[in-house]
Amino acid sequence: MRLIILGAPGAGKGTQAVNLAKNYNVPHISTGDIFRSNIKEGTELGKKAKEYIDKGLLVPDDVTIGIVEDRLSQSDCSKGFILDGFPRTIEQAQKLDSMLENMEVKLDKVLNIHVPDSEIVKRMSGRRVCPACGMSFHTEYKPTQQENICDSCKANVIQREDDKEETVLQRLKTYHNQTVPLIEYYGQKGSLVTVEGKEKIEDTTRDVIKALGEV
Ligand code: AP5
Repeated sequence: MRLIILGAPGAGKGTQAVNLAKNYNVPHISTGDIFRSNIKEGTELGKKAKEYIDKGLLVPDDVTIGIVEDRLSQSDCSKGFILDGFPRTIEQAQKLDSMLENMEVKLDKVLNIHVPDSEIVKRMSGRRVCPACGMSFHTEYKPTQQENICDSCKANVIQREDDKEETVLQRLKTYHNQTVPLIEYYGQKGSLVTVEGKEKIEDTTRDVIKALGEV
């Protein structure tokens, strides 16, 4: 399976990608996770990315495209991949087209998870993430079994810096201006499927699996 997941910040891309990666036995590639792990390690890339992420802006295309190119050239991607959060601009999408052409492979699908903006703001305020293993929780919709302790690796979960309300509102603006045009881009290529993502996590998972099976 070679899949892109599109959607607003907090639409549930990461939540669904984890399930799908297990299901199809392919790597889950999240550009957001790559940036956050570089920020945590204090690398030059992390320092640069942080300047943009903290403001709710996109990291520049030249930086982001290089990272994905490197990642896709690794051997575990030969059997497929789930791209979560990339591409986010038309330029990124065009560069991805060339990368896939060079690899002599084609995308199977582009999954668009649609969630209204009003729901997004509510979701982000309750999101908690594990800084050690990256697992994502929600105080109301997906609580940890023990309060504030990651179910998987038992580290303390935290709130993401960019989940503050004013940053979320800027991230939504960025999404509408720069990423929404990709819905038409992939729609015209015929590979797009859209799923409503405002239902419960397990209901969305069911709809995603159904939609991916159909195309
Ligand atoms: P990134 O980490 O990709 O952030 P994002 O796209 O804003 O997406 P999120 O991770 O916030 O949300 P998600 O859709 O994965 O939702 P989740 O499953 O966690 O990127 C961060 C930043 O890095 C960007 O702002 C940008 O600066 C930079 N960046 C990344 N990629 C880039 C690129 N290609 N180019 C340039 N810059 C880039 O779910 C959210 C919450 O809701 C969780 O708490 C979850 O438990 C809950 N939830 C999920 N589904 C449901 C449901 N159905 N019902 C109820 N709750 C749910």
